[in-house]
Amino acid sequence: MKDILDQLDQRRAQARLGGGQRRIDAQHARGKLTARERLDILLDEGSFEEFDMFVRHRSTDFGMQDDRPYGDGVVTGWGTINGRMVYVFSQDFTVFGGSLSETHAQKICKVMDMAMQNGAPVIGLNDSGGARIQEGVASLAGYADVFQRNVMASGVIPQISVIMGPCAGGAVYSPAMTDFIFMVKDTSYMFVTGPDVVKTVTNEVVTAEQLGGASTHTKKSSVADGAFEDDVETLTEIRRLFDFLPLSNREKAPVRPFFDDVARVEPSLDTLIPQNPNQPYDMKELIAKVADEGDFYEIQKDFAGNILTGFIRIEGQTVGVVANQPMVLAGVLDIDSSRKAARFVRFCDAFEIPILTLVDVPGFLPGTAQEYGGVIKHGAKLLFAYGEATVPKVTVITRKAYGGAYDVMASKHLRGDFNYAWPTAEIAVMGAKGAVEILYRSELGDPDKIAARTRDYEDRFANPFVAAEKGFIDEVIQPHSTRKRVARAFASLRSKKLSNPWKKHDNIPL
Ligand code: HXC
Repeated sequence: MKDILDQLDQRRAQARLGGGQRRIDAQHARGKLTARERLDILLDEGSFEEFDMFVRHRSTDFGMQDDRPYGDGVVTGWGTINGRMVYVFSQDFTVFGGSLSETHAQKICKVMDMAMQNGAPVIGLNDSGGARIQEGVASLAGYADVFQRNVMASGVIPQISVIMGPCAGGAVYSPAMTDFIFMVKDTSYMFVTGPDVVKTVTNEVVTAEQLGGASTHTKKSSVADGAFEDDVETLTEIRRLFDFLPLSNREKAPVRPFFDDVARVEPSLDTLIPQNPNQPYDMKELIAKVADEGDFYEIQKDFAGNILTGFIRIEGQTVGVVANQPMVLAGVLDIDSSRKAARFVRFCDAFEIPILTLVDVPGFLPGTAQEYGGVIKHGAKLLFAYGEATVPKVTVITRKAYGGAYDVMASKHLRGDFNYAWPTAEIAVMGAKGAVEILYRSELGDPDKIAARTRDYEDRFANPFVAAEKGFIDEVIQPHSTRKRVARAFASLRSKKLSNPWKKHDNIPL
């Protein structure tokens, strides 16, 4: 009997070695942790329950029958993060370069199916050479099985992808369909075709890092939502993000203990808006002053900085924040910022996370680059996302809310529940200068007349009271009391019920 028990331990030890010590050392030498070491950091200590440790591939081509390591290149199972359940898979680069075989895919599918059945998120740690070359189409089929599950799970359970090594070819499409992608700087990359193919087809010479490294995907393509220095920091940050999210669309986000006065008054906010309407200020200051303990988990911080997206808590409850950032391009809406915010709003709505919108927007960015790039369709994404969202929506206009951008940014007309404005708000079709130049074109040669017209326009429109008279703004609030007002608004909306008409699905302008 003792022998049998010992044998199990031996088999487990063998499985834990993956592709062997030499390859583990090589992984470490690159500054990367192994699949199991990563799970140790991601999950609560001792919480990991592994599935399919002894699964092996069934391939017999290319001599593969003589090389059948346990686990087949992916470690799967479930565990907890701060006590809350999560399903995980972690690709093991030491086994056939973490490449995906038929059985490797089946292991991933099993945890995804369990996650769907039991209502818990999936976190995938990707470190793979792609399709297992020796298995051919069986491997491609395996990918497609995973893709289909990604689609079915979208909007049902949160799915998070962490890219911790190579992720190339069609393999990128599984992470691409998940809710968030995070990368590790310098050691991870994602691309549909690698540098060699790029050179052959387009003659471009580019390194893997330039083509699909963390910097590329967080700053240029916006494929990734964030990047961190190394494996440890990345996994620790994923734990932080996880704490903001519900387990599924059937549950509310967790309520965390908070140590911050809900009615905290912030006198400094009364002077946040500069005298000069063209001078920027940092919208992050307002977010920090509204949030519990000033904690803001920013999503896509390196992309389209003219809009800020991320999570805060108010009274311990998760709130998604969308805010124009006057520090970047005056907070204008453009293609990139519309896409970024639209996707975030849809994530929040899918998972019942209330949305706080902070508005200081001079309008949509003009120009051929924007029009040729399809700003009409991209801007419509944000409009659509806000319009269809049924979660609690609280909006605060701090300064400019001009033109179509006023409508888009969670206005009353898009079913905003609480629409507040600071006394410094200017809600109008456009700024005074532009308006006067159009209305009084014939007087443009007379600076005195134009100055008087501009003052008139400002007196009439550069305030929140015209909108407040019409009930489009529910209340003009003191900046210093913003946290209290916003917290009370969300508290009053906790049992909000609103649904959209039945449809198979909508047709958001993609
Ligand atoms: C089988 C693979 C493999 C693969 C790597 N290995 N990729 N085995 N199938 N796809 C094995 C190597 O043979 C090697 O085995 C070990 O993993 C480590 O690989 P190295 O090349 O030594 O590592 P490194 O120099 O770090 O290079 C990593 C790499 C490179 C860039 C990922 O291995 C590579 O280019 N692999 C092929 C990538 C690829 O073209 N994949 C198919 C993409 S198409 P030993 O025994 O020496 O340790 C695709 C389609 C998906 O994925 C379609 C979905 C719809």
